[in-house]
Amino acid sequence: MEWSNAFKGREQPIIDLFAATFTDSEGAEEGAVVGDLVRHQLTGTPAPDLDVFVAEEEGAIVAGAVFSRLTYDRDDRSVFVLGPVAVVTARQGEGIGQQLLQHALDTLRRKGVDVVVTYGAPAYYSRVGFKPVTESLIPAPYRLQHPEGWLAQSLTEAELTPLMGKARCVEAFNNPVFW
Ligand SMILES: CC(C)(COP(=O)(O)OP(=O)(O)OC[C@H]1O[C@@H](n2cnc3c(N)ncnc32)[C@H](O)[C@@H]1OP(=O)(O)O)[C@@H](O)C(=O)NCCC(=O)NCCS
Repeated sequence: MEWSNAFKGREQPIIDLFAATFTDSEGAEEGAVVGDLVRHQLTGTPAPDLDVFVAEEEGAIVAGAVFSRLTYDRDDRSVFVLGPVAVVTARQGEGIGQQLLQHALDTLRRKGVDVVVTYGAPAYYSRVGFKPVTESLIPAPYRLQHPEGWLAQSLTEAELTPLMGKARCVEAFNNPVFW
């Protein structure tokens, strides 16, 4: 397996991976929504605000994870939100998702990211260090429909302390349906 965060020129196969995987797991409508989200993330986000990690085998992309910036207007820490994540249906349950996320988190730590947040299944994301957090510790850009899925971790030695000010996400996530 090869791990990389080079995605320029490979946007379409990455979008296709997300659309197909979510179609298999959640149905065609959700597959289309997630495919559109990833298209919007990959084509409409300024480079410093986006990181896309992929796992590849024999030239085929088998997994992907998208990280995009969150900014807080009274806090200068570097914060990214993880989502979505997909492992091609035929290869799920082999540990590829956890390895990809571990590789991604190690890379973001080396790049100086302070905090990573995600919004998903606590039982899965706790395997790579995420813990439940409240919206007062880590404000979200919109009121969360499932606050129990709001998770975060510090990538530095520093303890996770409240992020200050109003949260803003990248344009692709700027829609309450995603929150
Ligand atoms: C969720 C997903 C990314 C996990 O990747 P993966 O490579 O299949 O997972 P891993 O092999 O690293 O880990 C598998 C373990 O996680 C567990 N797991 C997988 N999805 C889970 C979930 N939603 N909640 C809790 N546990 C989960 C599995 O039961 C398995 O447990 P085991 O090791 O005790 O058998 C992948 O299954 C996927 O793409 N699913 C469809 C799309 C999706 O739901 N994406 C996440 C939301 S953005």
